[in-house]
Amino acid sequence: MVVNSIQKSIQKVLVVGSGLMGHGIGQTFALGGYQVTLNDLDEERLQRALDGIRRNLSLFSEEGLVTPGDAEAALGRIKLDVDLPRAAREVDLVVEATFEDLEGKRGVLRRLGELCPPRTLLASNTSGLSVNAMAPATGRADRFVVAHFWNPPHLIPLVEVVRGDNTAESTIQTMVAVLRSIGKVPVVVQKDVLGFVGNRLQYALFREALALVQNGVCTAEDVDTVVKMSFGRRLTTAGPLETADINGTDLFYSISQYLFPDLDASRVPHPFFKQLIEKGYVGVKVGKGFRDWPGGLADEIRQRRDRELIRWLKVDQESTRNE
Ligand SMILES: NC(=O)c1ccc[n+]([C@@H]2O[C@H](COP(=O)([O-])OP(=O)(O)OC[C@H]3O[C@@H](n4cnc5c(N)ncnc54)[C@H](O)[C@@H]3O)[C@@H](O)[C@H]2O)c1
Repeated sequence: MVVNSIQKSIQKVLVVGSGLMGHGIGQTFALGGYQVTLNDLDEERLQRALDGIRRNLSLFSEEGLVTPGDAEAALGRIKLDVDLPRAAREVDLVVEATFEDLEGKRGVLRRLGELCPPRTLLASNTSGLSVNAMAPATGRADRFVVAHFWNPPHLIPLVEVVRGDNTAESTIQTMVAVLRSIGKVPVVVQKDVLGFVGNRLQYALFREALALVQNGVCTAEDVDTVVKMSFGRRLTTAGPLETADINGTDLFYSISQYLFPDLDASRVPHPFFKQLIEKGYVGVKVGKGFRDWPGGLADEIRQRRDRELIRWLKVDQESTRNE
């Protein structure tokens, strides 16, 4: 499956940090035909990552997304290695997926820069940290890029490839080619902006959602209902700018003229959000956040979400087959 000449330079992939994101990223590369090593802080975490991959792959084969043989072959391409110097020795591409902490990431990237062969490309899966702020630590800013996979990385097609000031064009091209070869849809982000494209859009929506609740316009539950039952359903087929074209850019322009000045422009999180955090209502892990989370509900929602995402992957597979 690893086909063209750009990709031939990439055969072995190391994923550093095999948590929620790292194990799905490793699985995706293995299914795409690459030799994958997963690295983490201890054996137990690595074993958990492999168990997660086994579960995902058996769901993939139950759903007919892959054959049982392909799933087995992908598992056979995955190695676990807690020893970073050994894991980094022969590798062509590293995806760093450790905690979202700039200093921590700089430390990991510095070590990788020292341990990996000079040819190796380094990529960070940060959710939105600056690529330029991390690049100097690698000692190879020309071969460093952000590759932002979305959660769950084995089910969401998009990967944002973020160009730093010193990223070489060949690094971007290779990353894009490799991502395409594993069935991903890469989008190159041309400037180093915090949050890239996706999280900037997501947080613009989040800020307005908070303001609506803060100002008593509706409840938190109502915000979620409005999104899920309206434009949320359309967004999988037509993006916000396509929707403007479909409905008429002139209409969107008139609405923008009166609505933009009225939209929330807070530069700090809203008071009720801060109070929620101070009360310890940090979401599913404690059973309460913007809403209550009785036992089992979050898992039910995650399962429903994954089933929907799998359905979309099947639609994508079908349309690729028909092209
Ligand atoms: N969770 C999401 O929805 C999401 C989405 C996109 C991107 N990201 C980004 O992906 C990265 C990982 O997030 P996650 O949600 O998988 O976190 P996580 O906590 O589930 O996993 C992080 C893993 O990194 C390991 N780790 C930490 N330091 C390490 C080191 N020095 N060497 C090796 N392993 C180390 C941890 O043990 C852990 O297993 C973060 O930068 C995050 O912002 C997360």
